[in-house]
Amino acid sequence: MSKDKSNRDILVTNALPYANGPLHLGHILEHIQSDIWVRYQKLIGNYCTYICGEDAHGTSIMLKAEELDISPEELIDRVKKSHLEDLEAFDIDYDNFYTTHSEENKFYSELIFKRLKEQNLVEEKEIEQLYDTEKKLFLSDRYIKGQCPKCGAKDQYGDNCEACSTTYSATELLNPISVITNSQPELKKSTHLFFKLSNLKKEIKEWLDNAKISKQARNKLLEWVDGEIKDWDISRDKPYFGFKIPGYTDQYFYVWLDAPIGYLASHKNYLDKKNQSETFEDFWNSDSVKELYHFIGKDIMYFHALFFPVMLLKANFRQPNGVFIHGFLTVDSEKMSKSRGTFILAKTFHKNLDPEYLRYYFAAKLSSGVEDIDLNLNDFCQRVNSDLIGKFVNIGSRTAKFINDNFHNKLSLNPHNEELINEFINRSPVVHQAYEQREYSKAIREIMRLADKANQYIDKMQPWVLIKDKDNNELVQSVCTTSLNLFRLLAIMLIPVLPKLTTRVFEFLSIKTPVWEEIDILLLDHKISKYKPLLTRIDEANIEKIRKQTKES
Ligand code: 2FM
Ligand code: ZN
Repeated sequence: MSKDKSNRDILVTNALPYANGPLHLGHILEHIQSDIWVRYQKLIGNYCTYICGEDAHGTSIMLKAEELDISPEELIDRVKKSHLEDLEAFDIDYDNFYTTHSEENKFYSELIFKRLKEQNLVEEKEIEQLYDTEKKLFLSDRYIKGQCPKCGAKDQYGDNCEACSTTYSATELLNPISVITNSQPELKKSTHLFFKLSNLKKEIKEWLDNAKISKQARNKLLEWVDGEIKDWDISRDKPYFGFKIPGYTDQYFYVWLDAPIGYLASHKNYLDKKNQSETFEDFWNSDSVKELYHFIGKDIMYFHALFFPVMLLKANFRQPNGVFIHGFLTVDSEKMSKSRGTFILAKTFHKNLDPEYLRYYFAAKLSSGVEDIDLNLNDFCQRVNSDLIGKFVNIGSRTAKFINDNFHNKLSLNPHNEELINEFINRSPVVHQAYEQREYSKAIREIMRLADKANQYIDKMQPWVLIKDKDNNELVQSVCTTSLNLFRLLAIMLIPVLPKLTTRVFEFLSIKTPVWEEIDILLLDHKISKYKPLLTRIDEANIEKIRKQTKES
């Protein structure tokens, strides 16, 4: 391991899913994106910790628990269990998966709030909000519907109009109705706490100047900062499920205040379990040289790229080094939606198909940009079958049997084409760089280009013809030895994307899973195992089952 590599100590987070419902493929896209990056970091020898957890607070969790007639804690436990089952199925390998409803999160939320307050960054203001008098609840935007004040469209939520895209505040809606009780809400005053973001423009810009964040996202955020930046409402009135704000009666931290602090809480919990509490201070202190990255979707970039970094700064914690923002997932070019039958649950997918197919497909489409990603189910089927079975696995299946049947499973002492093997090794930095920059589609393109080369080599050498003449025995053995070395190289490059399939490849080759540094070691004069089919083609019937079950769910 080279020195600068061993120096990198990285913490990676994925957005914390809400504890009020099952994961869908939109969630899984992000978990796969971050998991690939973490596996790559570990493969090249960096120290990398990967954390997540439940986002457990807020009105929707409170109402969902009420609906099920269970406590919010019981709901969180149930949902966490189901999320973990899905994440495990997709091989998302978290070091810690915790919850924001925890002692650690309460502690850091209170501490950060206290420090912000000490710096006069918290202000009380009286505001007027819509109130459901039947339910005795202040209504957040998603619990109010009414007519758009601009175009008059009916049935619009309290924040923006789907028909004309105007944004407004809920109090401007015409004929508002509470989604919970269908009653007409009333305007009611209450005192809220605001984080004085408008004082922190300079600090926000400084962070944006130095952070790793895509150009498109930075421009959008700067536009927002340069416009009118409002102070941020960080409190909610009772009833609410969350942490009470110390020193205030009946006021709670807004879920988005304590959700990102949940990253600190999950990290702290992880280190405490490992008896490494001192590492936490080291990691989170304001002059930490360790690296912190958040993977998120474009819908929540304001929270992660504006509020959270300055909150950390002003509370004397380190800031993130980067926020990696991805676009939305569409299915067959449609927005994921229940009514359109495109809202595929994680479970529906993994009950019917090997999740590694999807890991591969998403990797083949993901870049570091914020463009939306389309899961076209026909293309998915064709691409996986053609790339993984037709190209990659084919290299092993076409040549293994000659080694198994004719050479007592033994590879030759010398490869037939060392030049080709070296060419693959020399291209590995391209793949390495692409992973580092989260340009996975570029990595996959390069790997598949090399897989084509390996297959062309086998086509040209035709070991199945050569083997007919005993005089060619040595040549066949060295040709197949070349092919299986190429197979090993491609498998190493695919470890971050396909941990299970590549493990089966290494078992077949009778070697331990290599690390990236071992890429230039050749397998020679080495006994392999008997070849067994490594992966089967996607059966289109299973795609149909997913379509059908999604429509029915
Ligand atoms: O948008 C969401 O699904 C949120 N639950 C993400 C929270 S990420 C972090 F801040 F906790
Ligand atoms: Zn409108």
